[in-house]
Amino acid sequence: MQPELSQEEMILTFLAEGGDEFVSGATLSDKLGLSRTAVWKHVEVLRTLGYRIEAAPARGYRLLEVPDRLTALELAPLLSTRDLGRTIHYEDSLPSTNALAFELATEGAFHGEVVIAEEQTAGKGRRGRSWVSPPGKNLYFSVVLRPELAPQRASELTLVAAVALCETLREAGVQAQIKWPNDLEINGKKVAGILTELSAETDRVRFVVLGIGVNLNLGSGDLPAELAQSATSLKLERGQSVPRALFTAALWTKLEQWLDRHAEGGFEPVRAAWKSMAQTLGQDVLVRSEQRELRGVAEDIDAQGALLVRTPDGALERVLAGDVEQLRPRR
Ligand code: BTN
Repeated sequence: MQPELSQEEMILTFLAEGGDEFVSGATLSDKLGLSRTAVWKHVEVLRTLGYRIEAAPARGYRLLEVPDRLTALELAPLLSTRDLGRTIHYEDSLPSTNALAFELATEGAFHGEVVIAEEQTAGKGRRGRSWVSPPGKNLYFSVVLRPELAPQRASELTLVAAVALCETLREAGVQAQIKWPNDLEINGKKVAGILTELSAETDRVRFVVLGIGVNLNLGSGDLPAELAQSATSLKLERGQSVPRALFTAALWTKLEQWLDRHAEGGFEPVRAAWKSMAQTLGQDVLVRSEQRELRGVAEDIDAQGALLVRTPDGALERVLAGDVEQLRPRR
């Protein structure tokens, strides 16, 4: 069941469908079951929220500009998903969207509920690192998932997300690649990351919180010095800023499609897509995990998403978690 859209969200949906054309006041009042004066009052509310809406006598209303914010008002009219993002918990600032999503999921949040913030003050990265999360330029969200999955298979969802993210970035015009296990890179610099956190019983997943951070409109001066060589943003790579709400809606659509494919067809289609987008395979790598360091050639990923590394003595080692450093490109 989809939650009801507010009247402002409905007006925006109709105006967005109209594109460059005017939508008449009569059409809006018919579709919404409101008087023309009530429609005009909702349009005024939208204007105070930063929407630029042209009104022309005898022609109606036309949407000229949408504010660069990621509330339900901007996102709902763009969404065609079934569950994902149909309930949005938006905050200007949060310590971490993953932390709030985990709390909400523990209290019973439904599959697909999303927590989104303009800024994170304690954004979490993989392996205890932090995630730089300045306000208003990027995308930080966490979605609650309730898959029918054994806990041992929960890590597959991270690869599902990596594939959806890579496809969305490519459709936005950059040659993104996946670095094992789930870093998204453009020209060898990190543009997005994924952090999944799990709550499980012995034989079933209670819920998974899937957190995604994407550097969208960061400028070169916004990155701390220590990240300037290793991180980038979509804007820096394609030389044009990104409409954040459109990117977010496109990513959620892809994510839901890949989650459905995974639920129906298992891990194999995800693994095949992941391999076709990965830059790690076939490379000489150094893998650092908590227990060890391993050098060799990254040969494949297995049915659990583990990296298979051929070491110089010919053994095939299996690594479930860690960081990969590419030693030098192979020809
Ligand atoms: C990584 O280290 O590559 C993972 C980064 C994940 C960052 C995202 S931003 C939204 C969500 N909330 C967090 O605190 N972390 C994730």
